[in-house]
Amino acid sequence: MKRIVVLTSGGDAPGMNAAIRAVVRLGIYHGLKVFGSHKGYRGLVDDDIVPMDLRSVGDIIHRGGTKLQTARCEEFKTDDGFNRALTTLKKYEIDGVVVIGGDGSFRGAKKLSEAGINAIGIPGTIDNDLQYTDKTIGFDTALNTVALAITNLRDTSSSHGRANIIEVMGRNCGDLALYAGLAGGADAIVVPERDADIETICKKLEEGEKRGKVHHILIVAEGAMSAYKLSHLISERIRIQTRVTILGHLQRGGSPTVYDRNLASSMANHAIKILLEGKTSRVIGVKGSDVFDMDIHDALEMRKEIDESIFELADILSI
Ligand code: ADP
Ligand code: F6P
Repeated sequence: MKRIVVLTSGGDAPGMNAAIRAVVRLGIYHGLKVFGSHKGYRGLVDDDIVPMDLRSVGDIIHRGGTKLQTARCEEFKTDDGFNRALTTLKKYEIDGVVVIGGDGSFRGAKKLSEAGINAIGIPGTIDNDLQYTDKTIGFDTALNTVALAITNLRDTSSSHGRANIIEVMGRNCGDLALYAGLAGGADAIVVPERDADIETICKKLEEGEKRGKVHHILIVAEGAMSAYKLSHLISERIRIQTRVTILGHLQRGGSPTVYDRNLASSMANHAIKILLEGKTSRVIGVKGSDVFDMDIHDALEMRKEIDESIFELADILSI
């Protein structure tokens, strides 16, 4: 292993820059020549890669987004696009690829491994939708962003006695809604993994109001239903006023939390270590505070599950 390339792919996530920085600096520390691919797999397909030095990743550890930029590159999935990517890798004599991204990006890394390139995946997505790892880089920062939004919305919710409905991202995964809901004291959390019980939600809001509760916070994951739909379902049953906030791409930006920065550095450290050992087709994960690696195929086969006990806890606490 002499020459490697690092790329960020799929949706950006806070902490991706910290991961790029760590891959570049650790790679150089261990004697590797490190390149960066612009816009994910697009840079490999279009021969848009640049050598990275120690200074090229200066002053980015605290920044959201990704210095290398990212993309969803459909062409890489085609035979022609993939072969062009292999040609670029051959031209620069690159034998290792570090892919920072989500499950789609990992499928690309798996394909590269099958073509003889040592590929390692680092999980970077705000969705936390990968079962094999406790956390993905960016999830903690996005959670804090949502929690801050809830804090602000609570004020106006209390002032008007309204039900404020907040729609969060997460694609088909409810983790962002669930853990932000617990942190924000949400009265109800609606996620794609469970059927929403609208009658129970309405009853809870009305009973709370009778006991003198003046604020009502509801979190809905985009994969479950839209906040407008939930607002409509509530409004046709009870008379508590609703207001909708869709947080959207706000959740993807911002300076990464300490947790995400340090997770990024530790995962990159593990990625470089196993690349130097000659491992391929592996993804990096974390269980508790232990960073580990596992086979990409096995990781992608695992079905994401939601922690049911957290719903119960959030429900009891938001009485
Ligand atoms: P994420 O990595 O966040 O899940 P996507 O699913 O959009 O994001 O995937 C990011 C990119 O990874 C795609 O645009 C494509 O370039 C690559 N990719 C996704 N799936 C595959 C696949 N089956 N084979 C090869 N490349 C893939
Ligand atoms: O995967 C990250 C994510 O932010 C999802 O939560 C969301 O559904 C999607 O990306 C939005 O994608 P785009 O940035 O292409 O609008």
